[in-house]
This record gives sequence, C-alpha cells and structure tokens, in this order.
Amino acid sequence: MADADVDDLTRVPWFPPVQRDLDLSGEYLVGHVRDVTACAVCLAETLVERRGTDLSLDHVVAGALVHDVSKLAEFDGMESTPVHDLLGHPYYGVHVVERAGLPVELAHVVLSHTSRTAVEPATIEAAIVRRADEVAASAIRWCATDDLRTV
Ligand SMILES: [Fe+2]
Repeated sequence: MADADVDDLTRVPWFPPVQRDLDLSGEYLVGHVRDVTACAVCLAETLVERRGTDLSLDHVVAGALVHDVSKLAEFDGMESTPVHDLLGHPYYGVHVVERAGLPVELAHVVLSHTSRTAVEPATIEAAIVRRADEVAASAIRWCATDDLRTV
C-alpha cells in the first residue's frame, strides 16, 4: 500500500478498464478478493472432501488473497499507471510476493491466475485460484449483461 501510495484499501477499484467499458462503478478490489477467496476455499474443501485431493489450503487462501495485489500499483483511482501500461497484469504482483518473502508457490498462483500471461497453473492450488477468479469476475460482469459471451 505504501509503495502504491494507497491509504484506503477499500477504495481501490476492481478493474478500471472493464468497469469503464461496462459502466460498472462501485466494484472494489477488496470485495472481489473476498469473493475469490471464498470461492477458492469452497472448491478446495469440496475436492478434499469428495476426492481426498492432496492440497495446501493455506496456499489456496494465501494465493487468493494476494492474486491481484498488483492492482494497487496498476491503477491510481480509475487511471492506469506505468506499472499497468508497461508491465501488465500480474507481473508486479510476482515482484511484491517475492519481495515479501512469500513462498514461490504463491508467486506461481499470482503469475498463473490470469490468461494475460502464458503461464498455466502447474499446481492444484493455482488452478483453484484461477477458476475462482474467473467465476468471481464473471459474477461482476454478469451485473452488466445477460450473456457473458458479449462482455
Ligand atoms: Fe482477480
């Protein structure tokens, strides 16, 4: 937050370019991250309970919490910054996670959570966070359309 000069985390928008395109004001990063974390935990717990899947729930929760950390530096309010324009999502997040001394598995979750990189999830924890993020983002887009194929 200090690096990005963010003093109120609750005012960081979810994703300004999409929000502008879809006229979606009032969507914030904190709410989205909570959606992703809750969805990811549900997916993980379901797989553990139904299949006995061997996974780290700690990595699922932590990965979901940090997956969009780059957005603090990518946008200043609704305006993009050079971090967004020159690095793109989510490379700065990998840097933040690494600098914080978090495990490389969490950097992988950040790097592979979006189709805007060529890195596909290699771990079940990363796959879970990616799918949780996709469906949580779809839930936001769903507020602006009755056909997700159009947005
Ligand atoms: Fe996200």
